Amino acid sequence: MGKLRIGVFGVCRGTQLAESFVLAGCEIVAICDRYTSEHNHIESCINMLGKGIAIYTDFDEFINHDMDAVILANAFHEHAPYAIKCFEKGLHVFSECNSNATMAEGVEMIRAFEKSNSVYMLAENYPQMKHMREMERLCKSGRLGKILYAEGDYDHFMDPIYPEIQHVYMYNEHHWRNWCPKTYYITHALGPLMKTTGATPVRLTAFASFAPETRELATASHVGDRAAAILTQNDDGSVFRLFPWSEFGGGPYSNFRFRGQWAQVENYFDTNVSLRYSAGYAPDGEETVQVYDPVLDDPDKEIIEKCYFDGRDYLTARIFLDAVREGRQPEYPFDIYSAVLMSSVAILGWRSVLEGGKPYDVPDFRKEEDRKRYENDNLTPFWGMDGSAPTLPCSSHPDYEPDEALLENYRKLMKGFQK
Ligand SMILES: NC(=O)c1ccc[n+]([C@@H]2O[C@H](COP(=O)([O-])OP(=O)(O)OC[C@H]3O[C@@H](n4cnc5c(N)ncnc54)[C@H](O)[C@@H]3O)[C@@H](O)[C@H]2O)c1
Repeated sequence: MGKLRIGVFGVCRGTQLAESFVLAGCEIVAICDRYTSEHNHIESCINMLGKGIAIYTDFDEFINHDMDAVILANAFHEHAPYAIKCFEKGLHVFSECNSNATMAEGVEMIRAFEKSNSVYMLAENYPQMKHMREMERLCKSGRLGKILYAEGDYDHFMDPIYPEIQHVYMYNEHHWRNWCPKTYYITHALGPLMKTTGATPVRLTAFASFAPETRELATASHVGDRAAAILTQNDDGSVFRLFPWSEFGGGPYSNFRFRGQWAQVENYFDTNVSLRYSAGYAPDGEETVQVYDPVLDDPDKEIIEKCYFDGRDYLTARIFLDAVREGRQPEYPFDIYSAVLMSSVAILGWRSVLEGGKPYDVPDFRKEEDRKRYENDNLTPFWGMDGSAPTLPCSSHPDYEPDEALLENYRKLMKGFQK
């Protein structure tokens, strides 16, 4: 097979991903983004990929370009409709987190996928961090015994005290980050737990921590919560505790922890690993308590060491490209059913928050009865592509609105800048 030809939709995050695909031996043949002003990354994308690249502003024209696969790096809540268009064209899809923003989209996406020959992969990159790979190796070695409980956090405080954060990440009032409920950005927290343990959530409950901005800053966030915890019961009897996109002080500090029958392991000060056995359970020659910086063991070590972000995007791209070249779907939990299930945990987790922690069963969209139950469930906390208003509150206090002074400061900050 010759070089795979890739198109990139959304060039903010998409530029970073394109770099990894080039390192993995692909050719980026086309990019698509509606903005061509200096506020976006088109310029840096062209600088990196070369001036000959085809540039589109319209997705429907873009997918007519001669190519094998599309990287979906557009708005967080708008991946599903574009994935479906790719399936209809027989294009392979590498989709940023999350796969879908409503339950109905999850059903529709899976139905369209099953009619296509496309390879679909959730581009969840946290399982490829060096310390995560080490914790997965330890858990899979059996040394911890059965994993009874695991924790996954994605912690990233976008502090409005720094105006540049607003410019880069929340550059208009309806931007998805200003309306993203705290259970939704889930794949960085849940993906590594599913990958490491093989367990799948079947039931959940959730609660949020409400602490809206009170300082005289510039923000248009309607969220008000700083974090939400989801607790899941899993198909193997274990339990997960998740903090999808939390904004705690002292971060960013995304923690993962696996507690087994005989031992437990967690990341410690970001990338170190802390492994603790019960007394008498350490294998011969091993200390009962160990803290260490794991050594990267990978055939592409030299490339990975050159990459930003620990090489985690490169490794994620490699999983996708291997699947495409071998004509199969990527392994659990990057396949479409796992991807949509993660989105269901995010969406139903939010329903649970809004209903005082009411438990929800997590549907399995391999089953027709589960599809039927959710095929018309279009509730969303986000603004629609057609300008339609959200149909669900994005704050655990449903009447919460940011103070008018904060919004006014935001509008002043963004004057002449908003896309
Ligand atoms: N895994 C990671 O480490 C990581 C990091 C950052 C972002 N992300 C994910 O990547 C995705 C994009 O994030 P972002 O921060 O770049 O978001 P963003 O909203 O800032 O950028 C999206 C880009 O897509 C373009 N776009 C959206 N809809 C379009 C349309 N219909 N036609 C043409 N162009 C369109 C926009 O112009 C914009 O440039 C999100 O899903 C986010 O969750 C992942």
